[in-house]
Amino acid sequence: MPVSKEEFRAALSRFASGVTVVTTKNNKGKLFGITVSAFCSVSLEPPLVLICIDKKTGSHHAFHEAGRFIVNFLREDQQNLSEHFASPLDDKFSIVQHYISESGFPVLENSLASLECKIVYSYEGGDHTIFVGEVEKTRISEGNPLIYFRGRYRQIAGQDA
Ligand SMILES: Cc1cc2nc3c(=O)[nH]c(=O)nc-3n(C[C@H](O)[C@H](O)[C@H](O)COP(=O)(O)O)c2cc1C
Repeated sequence: MPVSKEEFRAALSRFASGVTVVTTKNNKGKLFGITVSAFCSVSLEPPLVLICIDKKTGSHHAFHEAGRFIVNFLREDQQNLSEHFASPLDDKFSIVQHYISESGFPVLENSLASLECKIVYSYEGGDHTIFVGEVEKTRISEGNPLIYFRGRYRQIAGQDA
């Protein structure tokens, strides 16, 4: 018998994660972005990562349509961006600094790192879809990440990375 939702949430909240904003666009060119903590590296050769996207989100269809996404890792001072992209707003990009990559997808200015991905597999994952992306381009910079743990945003204590 599966655990209850409450037990599941309580246990999962004890797993600390980074916070990402994953961007994509639909087949009309409209930009989408969503706060995602369900991000994981999968494989080195080939370089694969995965994200899990709730089927109920407004962005879900766009991942299927575009076949591509960009993962932006948030910095410790970017909690506002996490909250912004976790809200079901119609146009999330008008007030957010970003640029369009050569492949045509939005990259957040000043993220800690970004990964440009082509979707190579997608799987049913209960109420989510698991999208596996092959990483085609990376950008990195220095700084500390935003952390999410027990329902709150945290920062790494101590020295900068
Ligand atoms: C810290 C944090 C992590 C989240 N992680 C995920 C996630 O991994 N997958 C997901 O589908 N939604 C996740 N969400 C919820 C979405 O960001 C939220 O449902 C958002 O409003 C969806 O936007 P949309 O409906 O405009 O697509 C997370 C929210 C927060 C605050």
